[in-house]
Order: sequence, then structure tokens, then C-alpha cells
Amino acid sequence: MRLSRYFLPVLKETPSEAQIVSHRLMLRAGMIKQATAGIYSWLPLGYRVLRKIENIVHEEQARAGHLPMLMPTLQSADLWRESGRYDDYGQEMLRITDRHGRDMLYGPTNEELITDIFRSNVSSYKDLPLTLYQIQWKFRDEIRPRFGVMRGREFLMKDGYNFDLTKEDAMYAYDRHMVSYLRTYERMGLKAIPMRADSGPIGGDDTHEFLVLAETGESEVFYDADILNLTLGNRTVNYDDHAQCADIVREWTTPYARTDETHDAALFDQIPEARRRSSRGIEVGQIFYFGTKYSEAMGATVQGPDGQAVPVHMGSHGIGVSRLLGAIIEASHDDKGIIWPEGVTPFHCGIVNLKQGDEEADGACETLYSALTALGLDPLYDDRNERAGGKFATMDLIGLPWRITVGPRGLKNGVVELTCRRTGESEELPPQEAVKRVAEIYAPIRAA
Ligand SMILES: Nc1ncnc2c1ncn2[C@@H]1O[C@H](COP(=O)(O)OP(=O)(O)O)[C@@H](O)[C@H]1O
Ligand SMILES: [Mg+2]
Repeated sequence: MRLSRYFLPVLKETPSEAQIVSHRLMLRAGMIKQATAGIYSWLPLGYRVLRKIENIVHEEQARAGHLPMLMPTLQSADLWRESGRYDDYGQEMLRITDRHGRDMLYGPTNEELITDIFRSNVSSYKDLPLTLYQIQWKFRDEIRPRFGVMRGREFLMKDGYNFDLTKEDAMYAYDRHMVSYLRTYERMGLKAIPMRADSGPIGGDDTHEFLVLAETGESEVFYDADILNLTLGNRTVNYDDHAQCADIVREWTTPYARTDETHDAALFDQIPEARRRSSRGIEVGQIFYFGTKYSEAMGATVQGPDGQAVPVHMGSHGIGVSRLLGAIIEASHDDKGIIWPEGVTPFHCGIVNLKQGDEEADGACETLYSALTALGLDPLYDDRNERAGGKFATMDLIGLPWRITVGPRGLKNGVVELTCRRTGESEELPPQEAVKRVAEIYAPIRAA
């Protein structure tokens, strides 16, 4: 992409309505524009990152054997009356009446709809296990939408639902979800800690929330510092191997980590004092096992091996896809702007032409641009007639992790400059070497 042809409405002024850094930076970098309270348009740069995040979620769900599908945003109230949640859900549910006077709603979540799909199509235990998921917009009429995409009213969520014959099978699904979520967040360059959470109004026995540590987080969290050392790295996960998934879950759930809702001071105090941490966190996902709550209420039963009809064991599992953009920025920025982790960056590297119109500099930039593109990389070439300072400021603000700077002076010596956004360190090297280096940096990320 060439910046002269792109739509990147960066703001010079710091928007006064934004209270936290991720919201400010998303507005300043021209990623989003508020349409109305808690509802946003995704401008091209923001949309690119959103798509990258969605792709990672899809890839990791595919690995775990979960099936993508898509349900509508608008639902009929009838199903919600069956489960009893039409009256329970309260003011957060946006209720709509259609022209025939029928009660509709904009889905805040989809347990009812998916349970209806299941009960209409599955009747034997032989069709289990089954896990279906979607990435779809949700609407919750939050009292205080705030912090930009972090607590929106309309937001994008990955929501998945497992259907199993027994509790044991459902816990295997729970474990697969935990492992796939850990992989998902790691690929986004995030440390998201699974914490024992409260099951709240949805009800159920087992639930973990995934929290990214950040001062601006809305949850209070308590954890053993040891949990920060855990990573999956490039270990191979075989999702068909329940024992391996259960081992990984055990590894991540053994150190103490809880939100304030389930915090147990006596247990916490058993951790050596130097490892006891409390801070704030952003909830970027949650997994739930809730047993037969919906299947019993809505008659989602299957015929078991003995011929008896039994309600299926279910769980639901969510990732805050749009919220993740805010969480990643909260975790990765400096005073100049965003610093995208390589896994989610909107463009792999920037190309800054210090002297637009100079034949040699223009030519070198074009060659770099084609070489990177030919390798399947997405460069963003700043080809505008702007002064160098302005170009650097834009690149820093929008946070591309790598930048190649091209100027007549360097070219005289046969070199360009490769700069790392995170460390600020620069290296001079011949253009072809710079291309090779960028390709090497992204090779493991693209193979993930
Ligand atoms: N208002 C919101 N704006 C953006 N993301 C949200 C919002 N509410 C929930 N999410 C995201 O969706 C994920 C799954 O939703 P869920 O656990 O049902 O939400 P909650 O815990 O807020 O009831 C949450 O972990 C969070 O990351
Ligand atoms: Mg939650």
C-alpha cells in the first residue's frame, strides 16, 4: 500500500473524550471513528488489524477442531422466552419490535440460537462431540460504554459452544478451549492469564477469564508471579490428546490467579510474599462449562448408548475480538504511539522516502516495495511529499514494528536504514539485505 492512496485520517490533537491511551491512540491513528455512544466505524487501518485478529482466532479454532459458522445478529424473542432469559437479561438487551409487532432482539450472546440449531439437527450421541463457533457482532446496551472499543455497546465477539454427552467430554472441550485461547493470545504478542472467575448470571461450575495485565483494566486481579513465566512457545499441541490438553490446563491453573470475585485471601497468603501480586486486568476472553442448563430448559437431548434420551452437556467460550485491539495497545505502546506485535501488525513494515521526487530515492523505494510484496509481505510506503519528521511521526503513531528509511545520503553508500519500532535501534544495510531481514523476522510468525 502507498500512503498517498490510502485513507489514514490521523489526528494531530489528542481527542479530549478519550480517557485511556488505547482509545486516544486508536482515534489519533485513524483506526476508528465513533458513530454514536459505544458504536464505532472501523476505518481501513483499524479494520486491517481487526481482520488479522479474526484470522488468528479462526486458525487456532480450526486447529482445535472447532467448526466456524455464522448466526444472525437479530433474533426472535421466542427462543429467549423458552430459556427464561428474555425477562432475566434486563436493560442490556436491545429489544426491537418488527412491523408485525413481533418481539425481536439484537443478540447479546447466542446460547439460545445455537441450542435451537443443535436440537433441530442432532439426536444421537454418535454425532457428538460437536463444537460450533462464530465471530459475530453483539449488542449490549451498556450503561456506561467507555474506553473506546474496550467497552462498546456493539462489539465483535468470537463465541463458541460445545455439545457433549458427558461432563467428562465437556471438560475435554473446556480444556481444548483453554489451550487454543492460550495459543491465540500468544500469537498476538499478549500475555493473557487464565484466572478462576465467578460464573455470574449465566450459571455454571467451571469458568476462567483470560486477563491482560494493565493499569486501565476494569478487573482487580490477584496472582502468583510464577504464572508470568509460562509460555507455550513452539511446543506442538495435539488436540486429539486429551491428556496433553489437560496437562497444559493444569500447568496454567496451578499457580494462584483469581479475579476479585473469587479471590481467597487465605489461599493467596500461602504464596511466598515476594511472588504475591495484585494489579488490574482487562478481560479478553472467558470459558464456561455450564452443564445442562440450556439443554434441559430447551429440550436439547440426544439418545445415549443405552437408548435413553439425555440432555447434552454444554459450555460457551468467548473472545473479545474488538476489545483485543484496545488491550494490545494498552500492553504495547510508548509516548510516540502504538507498537504492534508482529503477529497483528496492519502492515509488516513501513518504507519512508526521505526525499520524495529524488530519482534515486524514489527508484530505491519502488524496488524495496516490489521485493517485499513479491515475498508476500505487506509494506506501507510513505510516498507523500512530506518532510521527514512528519513521516517518522506518522509511522511511530501507527506503530508498524519495522521501518526502512531511504535517503539520497545512504544510497550513495549503498545502504538504507532498518529501524525497530520497539527498541528504536537502527542498522544500516544494503536494500536487499533489509528485505531479507524483514522476511526472516516474519518467517516464524507467518508459519505459526
Ligand atoms: N461491552 C463490551 N465491549 C467489548 N468487548 C466486550 C464487551 N463485553 C464483553 N466483551 C468481550 O467479550 C468476551 C466474552 O463476553 P462475556 O464473558 O460474555 O462478557 P462479560 O464478562 O462482560 O459478561 C469478554 O471476555 C470480553 O473480552
Ligand atoms: Mg466474561
